[in-house]
This record gives sequence, structure tokens and C-alpha cells, in this order.
Amino acid sequence: MRRKVIAGNWKMNKTPIEVVSFMETFPELVKDAEAEVILCAPYIDVMVLMKLADDTNIKVGVQNMHYEESGAYTGEVSPKMLRDIGVDYVIIGHSERRAYYNETDESVNKKLKAAFNYNLKPILCVGETLEQREEGITKDLITTQTRLALKGLSNEQVKKVIIAYEPIWAIGTGKTATSLEANEAIKWIRDEIRAIYGDEVADEVILQYGGSVKSSNAKELFEMSDIDGGLVGGASLDPTEFSKIVNYNK
Ligand code: PGA
Repeated sequence: MRRKVIAGNWKMNKTPIEVVSFMETFPELVKDAEAEVILCAPYIDVMVLMKLADDTNIKVGVQNMHYEESGAYTGEVSPKMLRDIGVDYVIIGHSERRAYYNETDESVNKKLKAAFNYNLKPILCVGETLEQREEGITKDLITTQTRLALKGLSNEQVKKVIIAYEPIWAIGTGKTATSLEANEAIKWIRDEIRAIYGDEVADEVILQYGGSVKSSNAKELFEMSDIDGGLVGGASLDPTEFSKIVNYNK
């Protein structure tokens, strides 16, 4: 049985003071969760969050990083820096990074390799736009994004990548993929991994759904055969709402 992993992606939200207020209630609300709980925060919040998450079951992640260890890259944060402060997870290739910050399949691949070099656990995002879905190329697109992102990783590494299928038309729009649509797309990704890396890897790799997940639809989504949890944006900002998603099975 694969474990469930539920990650919040705060995007560009929450000041450090707002993080303190979130953490006044959230840890108690999720302390008995069966799912693994992750909060992916803005860099500026990470040290505060890590301190408050110490001695809880909450893991801390960030939302992007550079692939180089150091250098003349003004404004960037390196995997070495993240490792040094003890960050666990890093989101790589979120559609907003791909759309607004020139993230490509190639840079995503470099970042995944860098994450493993620094012992960070990557959450890789893939997903199609509405036009691509309407054109009927979703399967081709998401399996290609997956293949290119994982290129050159070992089977052991691929097993440890969390992949979030996030249809772009469902992100922040209130429009969720139906549980059947989400499960179908996630199965395509698992089948692609099976074809390249074999059964053991495909059966172990954690595949999440993301895109307007809320407490009212989490249970139906997360109980589908191939969906191993979720990557949650807007609904992760409120501690009570996010705790209900984390505790979807209670
Ligand atoms: P959303 O965002 O839950 O607000 O749709 C999900 C994401 O972009 O990770």
C-alpha cells in the first residue's frame, strides 16, 4: 500500500507573522493524521516555519530552487542552501514557474538531479492547459513532461520523486478535474513510469492530484485507485480547511 502525501503550496502568500498565526492551530489539528503532511512555504517564511514545525509531524518544503550550488544568479536560492537549513521537500516545475519564469523540461530535469544531489525530496509538477485537453493531447503531454523530467535518474531516485498531476485549467479556478479524469491522467503517468522503470518503481511512486482541491472534494479524489494524495494551493492557506483535507479519511 502506498502512503498518502498531502502538501500545501502557499505560493506567494503569508508573511512570517502570518505563519506564526497559522502554526498556532494547525499542528494540533493534524497531529493524528495518517497522511504525510507537508507545507511548501515562501523562502522568507521557511526558517520560522521549520522552527514551529519542529517536534510535529509536519514537513517543510519550498516552491522552487536553482540547480547550481552557488554562483552569480541574482535573486536565486540554491539546493545547498536549502539542505543546509534542513528543508525536506522542493516543488519543481510548477505550471506557474513554467508559464511565468521560463521553466523548461530541461531546467526541470536539472533541478530534479540537483535535488537528489542535495538530499532534497522533489515534488515534480506536470499538467496540461485547457486548450491541450480540448485538443486531446493530455496523455501525450503529461507523459512527455514526466519522461523528460526524470531523464537520467536511477530507479531508486524515481521511486522517491513525488509527481503532482495538476491540470492548469483546474488551478485556482474552483474547477476540479472529476475524480475519474484525475485518476485516468494519473494512471497514464504511472503506466509511463511502469514502461520505463518497471513494476517496482511504478507501484511505489507517489502520484498526487492538484487543482482546486478542497475539504469537500478531497476524500473522493484521494480514495481513487491511483491518487496518492494532493498538492493544495488556495485551500492550504487556512489551517482549519487544510486540516480537513489532511484528515480527509476521518
Ligand atoms: P489550487 O492550486 O489548489 O489553488 O488550485 C494548486 C497548485 O497550484 O498547486
